[in-house]
Amino acid sequence: MSCTVRELQQRALQAGLPRLEAQLLLCALLDRDRSWLISHDEDPLPAGTSDRFENWLRQRLDEVPLAYLTGHKEFHGLRLQVSPATLVPRPDTEVLVDAALRWLTSCGLAAPRVLDLGTGSGAIALAVKKRHPRASVTATDFSAEALGVAEANAGRLGLEVRFLQGAWWQPLGAERFDLVMSNPPYIAPQDEHLPALRHEPLSALAAPEQGLADLRQIIEGAPAHLLPGGLLLLEHGYDQEQAVADLLRGAGLHYQGCERDLGGQPRCSAALKP
Ligand SMILES: C[S@@+](CC[C@H](N)C(=O)[O-])C[C@H]1O[C@@H](n2cnc3c(N)ncnc32)[C@H](O)[C@@H]1O
Repeated sequence: MSCTVRELQQRALQAGLPRLEAQLLLCALLDRDRSWLISHDEDPLPAGTSDRFENWLRQRLDEVPLAYLTGHKEFHGLRLQVSPATLVPRPDTEVLVDAALRWLTSCGLAAPRVLDLGTGSGAIALAVKKRHPRASVTATDFSAEALGVAEANAGRLGLEVRFLQGAWWQPLGAERFDLVMSNPPYIAPQDEHLPALRHEPLSALAAPEQGLADLRQIIEGAPAHLLPGGLLLLEHGYDQEQAVADLLRGAGLHYQGCERDLGGQPRCSAALKP
């Protein structure tokens, strides 16, 4: 049976989905933009649209991320494909990318060597490569599936990034970098927010030791993999600023401070290798 945009939107609103989300789902389903939806409110839609919309609506009401249904997410001006193997890139992570780009501009290096540890969909590595094309960018992840998504994003965007699979520093041997960036898993396993994130890979989100285990491993390995004067930039939890600063100083790095995210919370700390 055919239906219209208006009817499907109405169904979603009655089920409790915000209007904007209903529209974004319809746009993705019909491969149209929002102005088309408005001007074709009463047009009969192709057969099968209603069933597919109901299926997506059910999943969205079960907190499946919108980006997993539409298959993509905007990050730092890039349209990235995502899958349930990758974290959905967050706007807060753009704070880390901005800090990286400021440092790359100010350091004056002609062809800086840049590393993104735990790249997921490739968000950080690709955003930095896009804005700083002369950087030679390497990105790692221990998930082969995530790396497949990241590589496909790089190919689609025409950005040259080297991808390596393995746990944190392991795939890099003795290589050293001017800039190392990472948004590792940092949520404590017992955190009350984790259940709402259950559709994203737990291995991308949670870490033992109150969320600090992966941050600690990365910080401990950083001095051996940073060139003199090189910078380490880490995203972390809003309540981990002090613990991360202690770990950075404990590793012999020069702590530079912590940037706040879009909500005003401490989110991204930096340290220099002397
Ligand atoms: C919080 S997600 C960040 C993804 C992406 N960088 C972003 O900001 O959207 C953490 C990423 O680290 C990867 N990861 C988790 N443990 C790892 C490990 N031991 N070694 C390498 N990568 C790991 C996960 O697969 C995931 O892609």
